[in-house]
Amino acid sequence: MSDSQHPVRPTDPRTVSELAEAVHAGLPATIADLGALVRIPSVSWDAFDPEQVRRSADAVAALVEGTGLFDQVTVSRAPIGGTGTLGQPAVLARRAARDGKPTILLYAHHDVQPQGDDADWDTPPFEPTVKGDRLYGRGASDDKAGVMTHVAALRAVHEVLGGDLGVGVSLFIEGEEEFGSRSFADFLVQHEDELRADVIVVADSDNWSTTVPAITVGLRGNVTFRLTVRTLAHASHSGMLGGAVPDAMLAMVKLLATLHDDDGSVAVAGLTSREADHPEQSEQKLRDESGLLEGVTPIGRGPILSRVWSQPSITVTGIDAPSVANASNTLSPEVSVRISARIAPGQTAEDAYAALEAHLRAHAPFGAHVQIDDVDQGDPFLVDTTGTAIADATVAMTEGWGEAPVQTGIGGSIPFIADLVRTFPEAQILVTGVEDPDTRAHSPNESQHLGVLHRAILSEAILLARLDARG
Ligand code: BES
Ligand code: MN
Ligand code: MN
Repeated sequence: MSDSQHPVRPTDPRTVSELAEAVHAGLPATIADLGALVRIPSVSWDAFDPEQVRRSADAVAALVEGTGLFDQVTVSRAPIGGTGTLGQPAVLARRAARDGKPTILLYAHHDVQPQGDDADWDTPPFEPTVKGDRLYGRGASDDKAGVMTHVAALRAVHEVLGGDLGVGVSLFIEGEEEFGSRSFADFLVQHEDELRADVIVVADSDNWSTTVPAITVGLRGNVTFRLTVRTLAHASHSGMLGGAVPDAMLAMVKLLATLHDDDGSVAVAGLTSREADHPEQSEQKLRDESGLLEGVTPIGRGPILSRVWSQPSITVTGIDAPSVANASNTLSPEVSVRISARIAPGQTAEDAYAALEAHLRAHAPFGAHVQIDDVDQGDPFLVDTTGTAIADATVAMTEGWGEAPVQTGIGGSIPFIADLVRTFPEAQILVTGVEDPDTRAHSPNESQHLGVLHRAILSEAILLARLDARG
């Protein structure tokens, strides 16, 4: 995008080539540091060892200290609103701006999703392994590569600009993004002054491909909860009573079946879609990226990218019911599932939750008892693309990748962005990232493309230099 409101000049070519050299020379160390972070299984979920998230925070803090750029680096935890417990440790660093220059907030997260079943991985999940162009491991991309993008860009900028760097920098590396950023609201209140910035760079999204960068301008929100269905006071022999009273699984299956139309699009009244133009995407690309099996059809309606960027979706992501191995001939009295819904930009998560809840209560078959709890909500977000920061980032990415960025949506969610922008409405937000269509974030065999990492670091270093020069 070249915005007529903000005519943008190329970056001083000498700065670009000096930064390119510094980033290139630093790459082996960057990859080694990324590997060391991947070795720490920093899963932020309650059931996992919090000591690992602490170790991960300390390791990140040491890398941040090592840039030599910050006045202050701290590891801290904030309470989770009203619960009396603390959230996971975040790293916060600050360097004051000079000469009236702007302050940039750099965000990434150092926590990761659980690795799932080790047997599904081709290499051990917490053993960083380079194969071809990619580094494999849980968090290698989402989002430890985001952490390293900031660290490596700062190292390069420090090396090239040295004492001349006038922009302020705040660095916030969260420790529980994957667990719903539960202490973020309190963290924001406690550290409002240290987080305040003119430009916010969130390095936690993806790219169009390994050769074409993206600036994410639309994100879906999320609503997740546990849904429990009960039909019987106790289990019974399925031969004696089956066919005369409904078991909870039957009620659950019928209830879940009401959530989608025959073509697989969401059928919940009150969940809205956003009207927008979407780039073309072929069904073949969708098939390749998702590993859709031969003969299995895609679901939904409208342009493919509208289905993931601008329409809601509902997924059952877990189920508590008797396992197949333990299956006996019984009617189950109770079944629970975890529902994960994505909310289109333009609707609040609260509204969407209300629509989902009303639908589930209204459609429970046979008068089954429905309970909903453990609710998590995050708002969708649309980036204001008219600011100078997007123009600067567009030039920086074009120079760093040799290819202009596409403005994209993502189907995933980064819910804290909406909270951050509510607190700092004046700040310009840039959602960048290091993922690509083959990253497999959250899944077995997650990996980071090292060429993408290289280009992302250089682009961010150029962006910082431009913001410094803009003053
Ligand atoms: N980095 C992702 C967000 C993302 C998803 C970016 C897909 C690009 C493509 C982030 O770490 C994430 O996983 N977010 C969660 C949020 C949830 C825990 C509230 C998500 O989308 O599931
Ligand atoms: Mn992430
Ligand atoms: Mn994630």
